[in-house]
Amino acid sequence: MPSINSRVQEAYAMNDLVHLAIIMDGNGRWAKRQGKERPFGHKEGAKKVREITEYASKMGVKYLSLYAFSTENWNRPKTEVALLMKLLSSFLKSEVDNLKKNNIRFDVIGDMSKLSSRLQKEISNAKVATKECTGLTQVLAINYGAHDEILRAVNKLLHVKSAITKETLEANLDTAGIPPVDLLIRTGGDYRLSNFLLWQAAYAELFFTKTLWPEFSVGELETIVSEYEQTERRFGGVSE
Ligand code: FPP
Repeated sequence: MPSINSRVQEAYAMNDLVHLAIIMDGNGRWAKRQGKERPFGHKEGAKKVREITEYASKMGVKYLSLYAFSTENWNRPKTEVALLMKLLSSFLKSEVDNLKKNNIRFDVIGDMSKLSSRLQKEISNAKVATKECTGLTQVLAINYGAHDEILRAVNKLLHVKSAITKETLEANLDTAGIPPVDLLIRTGGDYRLSNFLLWQAAYAELFFTKTLWPEFSVGELETIVSEYEQTERRFGGVSE
């Protein structure tokens, strides 16, 4: 286990971007501004997922976590929930070939048990179809909430007699095996984390942009990443 000081020095030296997380907010407002209904915004948002995933992969990012549907999103009108589920389903079916072509592995976090069995099957098919891909891993957060994730992890550990450690808890989170978040971007102009990767983003650099998700561009991603690369990450330590 490297000491905190060597970890700090390593981070100073490289400021690698291994794990990028994005809260893709603003689809609904974007659609309204175009004089369209909210579903139009979600459809454009789904297209943007492909563009940004491919670009992040080219940048050498290893994990891209995208907040697609939260545990709280069930509170939206039934028609909007149904549309988002349908979009996820068609996204999974249409994206698999493209993911494979780009050597991108597909993964999910969240409680899949609440999703329809059809959607669960499509998720599992996409995971199996891309399991040999060695480039970026696209992690879709579906029915995901950090509180729910941590509670599920703790409940899985109830039978363990010894004290829960950071390592045992992390091994039982949905993100087990995935490194912590380095950079978290939220589009749409709000300054909050909305229950996304609260444990994993403990030392993430946070960037908030007013750009609505369907208008987010690879250019803006590049600008944010260059700023990130120049950030001094101290992980609770001090400057040299
Ligand atoms: C927030 O926009 C967006 C979401 C509810 C989640 C993101 C969903 C997508 C990008 C589309 C589906 C994704 C895939 C992978 C198929 P909002 O509705 O909260 O926008 P608003 O804040 O303007 O109302």
